[in-house]
Amino acid sequence: MSKELDEFKSKCDIAKVVSHYVSLEKVGSNYRGLCPFHEEKTPSFYVNPDKGFFHCFGCGAGGDVIEFVKKIENISFIEAVQRVAELCGIDPPLMSKDTFYVKYTSLMEKIAANYKSVLLSVRGKKAWQYLSKERGLSKEEVEKFTLGYAPIDSDIVRRSAKELKIDENTLIKIGLLIRGKNGRLREFFRNRITFPVKNSSGRVVAFGGRALNDEEPKYLNSAENKYFSKSKILYLFNRNKIKDAGFSIVCEGYMDAIAFHRNGFENACALLGTGVTKFHIEILKGVTRNILLVLDSDNAGINAMKRAAKILANEDLNVKVLTFEDSKDPDEFFSKHGKDGFREILKKAVEYWDFYVQKSLGEVGDPIKALFRLRRSISWMDSSVLKRQLASKAARILMMEEKDVMYELQQPLKEKKEESQIKHTENIQLNVDDYIVYLLFYSDEMRRRIVEHLEEAIISPFAKKALNIVKSGITSPQEAMRLMERGEGERFFQIFTKGIPDSNAEKIFELCVSKLEERKLKHRIEKLEREMISTPDAKLKAKLMKEAMELRSLLKRKGGASHGRK
Ligand code: UTP
Ligand code: MN
Repeated sequence: MSKELDEFKSKCDIAKVVSHYVSLEKVGSNYRGLCPFHEEKTPSFYVNPDKGFFHCFGCGAGGDVIEFVKKIENISFIEAVQRVAELCGIDPPLMSKDTFYVKYTSLMEKIAANYKSVLLSVRGKKAWQYLSKERGLSKEEVEKFTLGYAPIDSDIVRRSAKELKIDENTLIKIGLLIRGKNGRLREFFRNRITFPVKNSSGRVVAFGGRALNDEEPKYLNSAENKYFSKSKILYLFNRNKIKDAGFSIVCEGYMDAIAFHRNGFENACALLGTGVTKFHIEILKGVTRNILLVLDSDNAGINAMKRAAKILANEDLNVKVLTFEDSKDPDEFFSKHGKDGFREILKKAVEYWDFYVQKSLGEVGDPIKALFRLRRSISWMDSSVLKRQLASKAARILMMEEKDVMYELQQPLKEKKEESQIKHTENIQLNVDDYIVYLLFYSDEMRRRIVEHLEEAIISPFAKKALNIVKSGITSPQEAMRLMERGEGERFFQIFTKGIPDSNAEKIFELCVSKLEERKLKHRIEKLEREMISTPDAKLKAKLMKEAMELRSLLKRKGGASHGRK
């Protein structure tokens, strides 16, 4: 067997491949299941992930991962290798048969070396100044990452191809040579700093190029082809370093990944201008189940992290998220705080789904709205197990009962209009608003007291409008109703007819005050809990938890005393 094939097999997770076809259970360090190659009722089919083989004690079938797929799919050896590669999310071994692959990668590597020489020559002076002065890189680092420079009038691709006797048509085909508007051929990368991108076998298959000036786009990737697809590759991905560290850091940019590696976090890799894809996850899963997403702290980065939800949802992974408050990306963070700073903030990484719920809450501020938003954003999620897990996290963060959250998350999505009606009838805080609206038209004295004590309790636009109407001097409900929009008017009418169960104004006022206090209390608890989630300090965590629990029992007592329901 060839060395390449052995290497390939060592990277494959046979248990994962087999479990694609056979349902397996773990027994010790092996897996067991019903043999797919003969009829049986008790399992005698075993998979040994450490040695990478399967064996059936019933029918004697056995072999490696490729043999398994070949047999079960009834396909050729070469096809089986391809299929295994797909299932494991790794590149197939470079079959020595694919001569173009060898030619292609050799060319890319030659180009990378030549770009690098240019960077360190007079032609690359400006680029080198930028990298050394503005990005703080050393010559050793240029060597280590094989950074390079494609000059404005680049002939590097053509020169490299000549050395390897590769013709221009091939260069055009792989997109490194393009025909300009004037019909002349020119090189794809010009006046850009170049980053060679290696595949999982360590061969260069593409380049990233960063503009030296403000030219747009800031980054370009070389064309996609059979050997390079940005959705299936991670820049600076290093299997061994990830294994050693026990987790993998995933960031967004070339320079960010380099910043991580320079600072000793060689378990970091970068996306190439795409979101996280299922292929990326497959690649990572082949090495670790622990992933730390450190995307840019701008909206695009945050959205990218949220978008990853669909891909992460059904994975048995431990994903955490890290965001920076004072830096837009890891590169900036390292230049401000260094590796020690990062080691510190690393402790503040938040569990992915906590982050997800927290974001929904952060965006709308109000727990009920956050819950609606959450429901909308996970409507694609069909695993009820996952929904339940999410509900329990959401309940904790949103300070609600788990069963209520679960109920909401399970509701099918309704039309937008319907949803707002639900808010009106089910939203507890809106009830407070309703009471306040009622009181606003009760008496002069009541109006004064509300403006003094309860104005901040008013949340809904409807109640705010009522307040403004009253403040403008209109105090009769009939007159006020005429100033309301249609939906609001109906609601208003309801409040004054059958909406308020207990019409004792004094009691209602007290209820509103205690509701407001309750809400403030909830916000305080929520703040404590957020701190609790993000602090690495166990003592502080315990202290915050105790404080939150005290407040929660206070909240419970208050809830019970004021109106007898939760
Ligand atoms: P950013 O725009 O965040 O740039 O793009 P950056 O990494 O901070 O760049 P520096 O620090 O100014 O050099 C992040 C990543 O998104 C992709 C690239 O992969 C980049 O590394 N990108 C960005 C593109 O593909 N095209 C672009 O025009 C910009
Ligand atoms: Mn940057």
